[in-house]
Amino acid sequence: MRHVLDITDLNVTEIDELVATAEDMLANSAKYAHILAGKKLATLFYEPSTRTRMSFEAAMLELGGSVISCADMSRSSASKGETIGDTVRVVSNYVDVIAMRHPYEGAAYAAALKSPIPVINAGDGGHSHPTQTLADLLTIHREIGRFDRLTIGLCGDLKYGRTVHSLINAMLRYENVKFVLISPEELKLPAYMLETLDRAHAGYEETSDLESVIGKLDVLYMTRVQKERFDDESEYERVKDCYVLTAEKMKLAKKECAVLHPLPRVNEIAEEVDDDPRAAYFRQTLNGKLMRMALILKLVTEKDSVYIREKTVLGGKCANKKCVTRLEKLAPLYKAEEENGMHRCAYCETLQKLGDRK
Ligand code: NCD
Repeated sequence: MRHVLDITDLNVTEIDELVATAEDMLANSAKYAHILAGKKLATLFYEPSTRTRMSFEAAMLELGGSVISCADMSRSSASKGETIGDTVRVVSNYVDVIAMRHPYEGAAYAAALKSPIPVINAGDGGHSHPTQTLADLLTIHREIGRFDRLTIGLCGDLKYGRTVHSLINAMLRYENVKFVLISPEELKLPAYMLETLDRAHAGYEETSDLESVIGKLDVLYMTRVQKERFDDESEYERVKDCYVLTAEKMKLAKKECAVLHPLPRVNEIAEEVDDDPRAAYFRQTLNGKLMRMALILKLVTEKDSVYIREKTVLGGKCANKKCVTRLEKLAPLYKAEEENGMHRCAYCETLQKLGDRK
């Protein structure tokens, strides 16, 4: 039994295997059409979603399995005060694997701690979104053909964009990958992600000017400003249209630059770019379904795998008010080693001094 809460829960060999399986699923779909007959997936989505939820459900159906879901989690027992842990314990009696999305950071981890069946994180607040990264990786593989020697520009909301955090964590593991972090000051990467880049000795630069760097990118990853994560609406209004990719700007990009976006898009890519052969974002959605098929198959059929995370008990609640430890009375923070005198919350990864915990 095995969970995928973060992209680093899969090693690079496993990523290669998932990519190969996904490619095979595309070429030989009949071979997989009944492979999970009798198995069930539950989608527990506490937050809006179109493609993630539907692609998880389509993925399970295409493997011959079935799906159960709660149409609206705000009408589930969560509204009566049931904890995430109790909900997954109950649901695990009905299905073989759970895909969960939640607005609180670290929620999937809280679920996994109590779950006897695999939990897949389908997005936890502004923290991480590993299966979107699987979609992004297959897209990079299919559009460019390699994961190393790439310059990747990440543009827009790097603060709250969970897909950005997971993609960086995935790409950090390949040789000679450089990151160009393009955002306004207010939407820069969180401290814990910058610390992660520094620890990996990754090459990166930060800029607010897309046009000055677009010409050197092999991948341009555009993102939506995550309106729902802002406490202050006026701050959102100030930054919401900070970048708009247009056909004019695409003239400055390399001939082989792949443009990705996890979608939904709001204003950040003009529709005129859709006809550019470098625009890969709609192909990316098919890739998402294929990689979710490969992942579900792996988790449901894999035997003898054990899920291990560091467990040094510190206790208390996290300083991040969007952390799941602030929503529920959860067991302690688990500590990784100290980083520049700070501790990393095991649920949401926010770096904090022990005295900052609530
Ligand atoms: C992303 C998400 O939910 O984080 N969407 C998705 O899953 N494809 C990106 C977004 O909502 O902007």
